[in-house]
Amino acid sequence: MVAERVKLVIPSKIRELSERAKKIENVISLGIGEPDFDTPVHIKEAAKKALDQGLTHYTENQGMFKVRKAISDRYMRLFSAEAHPQNILLTAGAYEAVYLAFMALLNKGDEVLIPDPIFLCYENDAYMSESVPVRFPLHEENNFRPSQDEILERVNQKTKMLVLNYPSNPTGGVLEKNDYKMIADICEDHNLYLLSDDTYEEIVFDGYQPDCFLNHYDKTIITNSFSKNYAMTGWRVGFVVAEKEMLTPMLRIHQYAVSCLNTPALEGTYTALTDSQQCVSDMVKEYERRRNLIVKGLNNLPGVSCINPKGTFYCFANITETGMTSREFSDFMLDNAKVVVVPGDAFGDRGEGFIRCSFATDYAKIEEALIRMEKALKSF
Ligand SMILES: Cc1ncc(COP(=O)(O)O)c(C=O)c1O
Repeated sequence: MVAERVKLVIPSKIRELSERAKKIENVISLGIGEPDFDTPVHIKEAAKKALDQGLTHYTENQGMFKVRKAISDRYMRLFSAEAHPQNILLTAGAYEAVYLAFMALLNKGDEVLIPDPIFLCYENDAYMSESVPVRFPLHEENNFRPSQDEILERVNQKTKMLVLNYPSNPTGGVLEKNDYKMIADICEDHNLYLLSDDTYEEIVFDGYQPDCFLNHYDKTIITNSFSKNYAMTGWRVGFVVAEKEMLTPMLRIHQYAVSCLNTPALEGTYTALTDSQQCVSDMVKEYERRRNLIVKGLNNLPGVSCINPKGTFYCFANITETGMTSREFSDFMLDNAKVVVVPGDAFGDRGEGFIRCSFATDYAKIEEALIRMEKALKSF
């Protein structure tokens, strides 16, 4: 028998689509949620060296101190934000970080405010923690930023946490300067935890500079990762930053579920953090070049419009004028153009009418995908 809470967990619609795509030849995938770049060589070398030196044993449950210290220095350097090493917990990616926050801080029946559309894990973590996800809408005309009124309408005595993810998967939206204070004020007034998943914070374009909620609100829980900025998805290294009262219960779960992270992977991460950051800027520059190509190309397709994402490697295109639903559109593109795009409703009801296209794929492939999509739509 399976535990009741698992029955609520929703199978990923993205995986379904990639399974179907695997059976078709010559497919170009714009469905990908990870960098196409290889992990930079100096990071790989550091992990190899660790293996050769016999650094193959357990590390501290909370995570190797020098890595936490390097993260702490990074927050000071990038945001002038205080993130003491004792307030940092290293996790198996941001996935584990988010899961721990839900499991350690929420009780059965507590309500969690989650944007719609948004990445899939928050709603499922709510189900696993037996808390109740309450979705609030994000609108294209507001660049998918949160609206104060729409959040406040949903706050009540049971509300315990507000979740945000900016730069956002799937919309590529970012927060404006004033949004940080607006969100912090809501959380302060209603004594809510604020979970800010900052996984894409370094993948930003047009000179945009994000702020950090650590500078605005004490009950902030930052979840973050090395997966996307350093192209290290398979290394499984992420982290949480939170004050002691919130971090200690998370550590308690982590200690028995995961114990500690992979030691060579942490040595690689330490090098990623402390060596030159040129590799990150180079990758971001290339994402921006591809972003310019794909947004222009999508806007040229009949019935499709797309606003400019300021961050991540996703754009969220509006396809309502084609007369197809998101699901019909993505099936149509797979069958007629051999191009994978993700239907927006995979990210929540408010994603209906949109498709997510990833530009974490080669420039030439994006060009080809756009040509194929145009041809398919013109003969529709
Ligand atoms: C918004 C967001 N958060 C968290 C994750 C999980 O990343 P990881 O566990 O690889 O750090 C992802 C992965 O796609 C993501 O898009």
